[in-house]
This record gives sequence, C-alpha cells and structure tokens, in this order.
Amino acid sequence: MEKISSILNAIIKQKFAVGARVRLSENSKGGGDYATPIAMELAKELGKKPLEIAEEIIAEIPVDASFTASVSAPGFINIVINGADLARELDQKWSAKYGANDSADGKLALLDFPSPNVAKPFSVGHLRSGNQGWAAKQVLERNGWRVITDSHLGDSGTPFGIWAVGFLKLSNDQKLAEGGVYELGDVYIKTRKLLKEEADLGKTELADEVQVWLKKLEANDPEAVALSDKFTEISLKHLHDIMARLKLSTDYELGERFFLQSAKELVTKYAESGVFKRNDDGSVICELDDVAKKFKDTPLLLEKSNGTVLYAATDLATATYREKEFGPDLVIFSVGAEQKFYFEQLFAMLARIGIKAKNIHMYFGTIDQVDEDGKRGKMSSRKGVILMEELLDRAEEKARSVAKENVSGEDVKKIALGAIKFSDFMADKKTNILFDWDTIFSLTGFSGPYVQYAGVRMKKILDKGADFERVGSSAYDFAAEKPLIKLLLAYPDLVQGAANDLGFHKIANFAFKLAGEFNKYYESTPILNAGPAEKSARLILLAKTHQVLEDALAILGIELPASM
Ligand code: ARG
Repeated sequence: MEKISSILNAIIKQKFAVGARVRLSENSKGGGDYATPIAMELAKELGKKPLEIAEEIIAEIPVDASFTASVSAPGFINIVINGADLARELDQKWSAKYGANDSADGKLALLDFPSPNVAKPFSVGHLRSGNQGWAAKQVLERNGWRVITDSHLGDSGTPFGIWAVGFLKLSNDQKLAEGGVYELGDVYIKTRKLLKEEADLGKTELADEVQVWLKKLEANDPEAVALSDKFTEISLKHLHDIMARLKLSTDYELGERFFLQSAKELVTKYAESGVFKRNDDGSVICELDDVAKKFKDTPLLLEKSNGTVLYAATDLATATYREKEFGPDLVIFSVGAEQKFYFEQLFAMLARIGIKAKNIHMYFGTIDQVDEDGKRGKMSSRKGVILMEELLDRAEEKARSVAKENVSGEDVKKIALGAIKFSDFMADKKTNILFDWDTIFSLTGFSGPYVQYAGVRMKKILDKGADFERVGSSAYDFAAEKPLIKLLLAYPDLVQGAANDLGFHKIANFAFKLAGEFNKYYESTPILNAGPAEKSARLILLAKTHQVLEDALAILGIELPASM
C-alpha cells in the first residue's frame, strides 16, 4: 500500500507540481482492491474536473507497477493489485511475531485494573475494567512497551469501617467461615441499609462508629488490623479464584490500605507547603479552580475534618510510590466513566505536585441489559448486582448448549469466556454495551463463539494437511485469496493504531471480518483437495490466517478451544 501511494504521490508532484497526500482505503464498491479520492481533493486547487485529473494520473502509472488503475465517477481512482504480489509482500513481512513492533522502544507503562473493591463479592461491575485493561496490556506489549500491571484494590476507606461495624453487630466468626465473601457482602449491604435508615432519622451513631474504625485502622490499631486482615484474606482468596476463572492476572495488588500511611504523610506535607489547603475545620483540599472552570467550587477533597484520608489521598500516595519504584512513562487507569471527573481532578493534582508519568483514564460505559418489561438499564438481578460467579456459571451452561456434545470442559470454559469477553469489545468502549445472552453466543453473528468457530475450523484443516510438504507461497496467482491477504496485511497497522487510541473494538471487528472472509473462502475454494501447488499455497496462507486470528483474539483475552 505504501508503495502505491508513493508512486501516485510522485506522479502528482511531477505532473501538477503540488504535494499530494494520497490516502488509500478499502474499495468496497468499484471492484478494485483500494480506492483514493485524491482527484476530488485536488480539483479545487487545480481548477479542473476530478475525472480529468484522475485520468491524467493513471495514464502515468508505469506498466511494470504491480497494480493497475481505473477511474470511476465522480473521480475515484480504483486500484487493482496482483494477488501474487500481495502474497509476496505478506511473505516478506511475515514473522513468528507478526503484528508486533518495537516502536515504544521499551518504555514502561503501568496499567491499573481491575482494581475491585474487596468489601463485596466480585461483581460484573469490574468485568470491563479487567477486559479492557488486559487488552491494553496485550496491545502495548505488541508495540514494544514494557508493562507492569497493578490491581489497586479498594480495601480500605469506608468499606472497611462499614464491615467492621456490621461484622461486630450482625455476624460472627462462624458465619464468616461458612459464608466467606458472601457473608461479607451481606454484612456490607445490611449495614449500609442501617446507615441509611439512621441518616434518615438524623442520627449518626453508626456512622460515627464507622469513622472510629477507619481511624483505628489508620493508626494501626491491632484489633482493626486483625479485622482488616481477616476480611482481606477472605476476599482476596475469592478475588483470586475469580481472576483465575476469568484468566486474568496482575503483577501487583497494591491496594488503598497499603498506601494509607504514606497518604496521610503526603497530605500533611503538601498542606504544610501550601500546595494543598487545610480548612478551618481541619479538612484538606486541593483547589483546582485555576486548571479548569468546571473545578471551581469543587476542590479535590483529600482528608476529612476528622482526619481520615480519602480515595484521592491514597491515589496521590499510589502515584508517588509508582514513580519512585517503577518510574513509568505512562499510567493507564481502566475505570468506568462514572469516575471521569474524579480522574480529571486527580491528574490535575498529580501534575501540580510534579508527577512525571503521562496519565490516561481509559474509561468505559456500563453493561446494560433489557429487563422483562423491555426497559434497558445497568445489568442487575432482583438481588442487586450480578456476581461474576453467577455470570460465569450461566455462561458455561450456555456454552455447553451451543457446543457439540463431546467438547471438553476446558473448551466449554473457553467458549464461555470468549462470548463474555468479546461482548466487551463489540463497540467503542465509551458506549454502554447491551448484554444479551443470545447475541453473545450467536454462532452466526458478531460474537466471540462465531470467531472462535472459524479458528477451530482453520486448525482442523491445518491438522489434516500437516504432513503435506508446503513449498513457497508465490507459486500461485492468489485471486480468491486476496481478501484474506489484504486483511492480514492490514493487521500490523491495526495493532499499532490500537496502542495509540486504545480502541480495542477495532481488533474485535478485525477478528470478526477475518473469520467471515475465511468462511467465505472455505466455502468456495478447495484447500485439501486442490492440486499440489494450490494446496501448498493455500495451507501456507491458512496457517498465517490462523496465527493472526489467534493473536487478535489473544489481545482480547480470548483463547481458541480445540473443538466446539
Ligand atoms: N476500586 C475502585 C473502584 O472500584 C477503582 C480503583 C481504580 N484505581 C485507582 N487507582 N483509583 O471504583
């Protein structure tokens, strides 16, 4: 493609004495492979009709160029490439790590995901953070970044206080041993309810107790530490079980609690030096009026008047720690869109204290569902949030029902995860996604299982042709293979682009297209039954297609089952 644009650019420069910027795009209509609207773009500047300009340009294309061109109204130049040339280009660019590059040159990125709150069982609320964060890791690594992943657990702050109060009032060690994280979740929800009832009556007795526990934990009071350890152990075990089921992991889990002490110290330091402001009531804020109008009257609150430090303070300590320990060039927070304003404020504060890393809030919309009355809303059940375990159990049931009978349990899990994860990437992450069981498992539509199925088919053919000796790939003319080859050629740019815009849905789209093109190809072109030259060429291309499909899915955290 670059070759074509540069030939066209040179012709335009030589003929019309203007610098051109030919952009080639996929030609879906005109029958060619690519098309460019350059003649239309130049028409005004040159004072000529686009059609005329286009004709003049293509008349100059050298006969030995590896493509031919034609003109269509109102002035498009359509390019047809020789399939064998495309195949040769693919061969030249091919490697075991096709799609990867080292453009980031070992720069360091730190990714913050899925960072759940340990007060409750892992819910679908942190599913997107995990999926998107994981994809970011995969994409950055393929672009030459070093990546550190850190799950910033919500393991202190108010939830701990609520737990401590609730546990002592409503639960006990035996219940906790039996119910584990579900008992904790229960205690949390019930205590929140009590707090609300109390607040409605204008009372603060329980709320004060919550604060007392928070202060105790901050002061390293042994009883508070013991309780916190107990809760943390239970919820960590649960968290790790779920992460393993999701096939996600992070290098670190430095939660809020880990930063409480240093948060307090840093807030005090910056309050004394005047970067922050200590109010008369003792609370500490960071005023950001000068940064943006929208921050006026809503300073970032770091410490409450009673001395407890808040989310922003632990994040301040976290950023400081990360800079000192790891020195990342880039920090990406994979967190929902609800926290957009918060992160804008946080980043403004971090810039003020001189944190060097570039910060990105990689936000995403909610997971919605249509309820029985046909109303769309955030995914929930009658009991409230949907727990990851419920979702995974149900997905595995569903996967079992779409898979053939003899498919292994491991493969069923891969299909279940394939459906759930792929749904996260069906549209730009900033939009809310609509979760629908039938859609995400559809074997004929835009779904994980559909793409997986194509991959499984490819592998079956490759296995059957494994013993066949494959020689060179340019021996064949590759007309039918062109759509596949073109897609494969586009993959490296796609991966590179994704590192810049973090638009992983484009990878999902690509995988879907590749699967579709393969299916078409497979239905129309014999592979194993073709003559030796064709068979060889086709198997070589198929192996490449399979590798790229597998890699694209791996970016999304999806594995190919052995059968389905
Ligand atoms: N635990 C937080 C939540 O669930 C997300 C934490 C994101 N990371 C951070 N450094 N603030 O809302």
